[in-house]
Amino acid sequence: MIGSLCSGYGGLDLDVQAALGGGTFAWHAEVDPGASRILSRHWPTVPNLGDITTVNWATAPGVCVLTAGFPCQRRLGRRPPRRTG
Ligand SMILES: C[S@@+](CC[C@H](N)C(=O)[O-])C[C@H]1O[C@@H](n2cnc3c(N)ncnc32)[C@H](O)[C@@H]1O
Repeated sequence: MIGSLCSGYGGLDLDVQAALGGGTFAWHAEVDPGASRILSRHWPTVPNLGDITTVNWATAPGVCVLTAGFPCQRRLGRRPPRRTG
């Protein structure tokens, strides 16, 4: 069984499944409504647990493989220095 954190539209998941030569998803965990629609279209029987910060992981089905596409820290390196005074 595979679990997927911050699944996006499932691109990484498809590659992991291909690399493993198969495998079944126990769950996805994604908050974006658009990405979630794509997930439910491609994996209609796989539950989307939603926000990874509020999931009760003690009750989530166990998995052997965990994928994760954590969000980028957007543009932190491009922020101009803060001016003081
Ligand atoms: C870098 S993208 C993941 C891309 C994904 N691995 C793929 O191959 O399509 C990060 C994803 O994390 C999701 N995300 C951000 N915060 C989240 C949270 N607290 N719980 C679940 N998903 C979250 C975003 O909506 C976004 O789709």
